[in-house]
Amino acid sequence: MMNVYVCIGSSCHQKSSYSIMKELKSLIDENGLEDKVSLNSAFCLGHCAEGVTMKIDEDIITGVGLGNIEDVFRNRILKVIR
Ligand code: FES
Repeated sequence: MMNVYVCIGSSCHQKSSYSIMKELKSLIDENGLEDKVSLNSAFCLGHCAEGVTMKIDEDIITGVGLGNIEDVFRNRILKVIR
């Protein structure tokens, strides 16, 4: 099981982490990965200035936005899991 966290701390929240979370959920569902990816929210991951911040297993990914969430999903989740 891959553990994916999206920061919902106040700074990331202001940068639309909730929409990112929703988008990720749809991407996970569309690709039938519900059993392989656990999507969670996290409190501040300590990179507020570079947010939105995500954590995939032990890797921190910064600079996530609605413009690149699909790329992040493809490169960091889909590719790794297949
Ligand atoms: S609020 Fe997201 S890294 Fe701090």
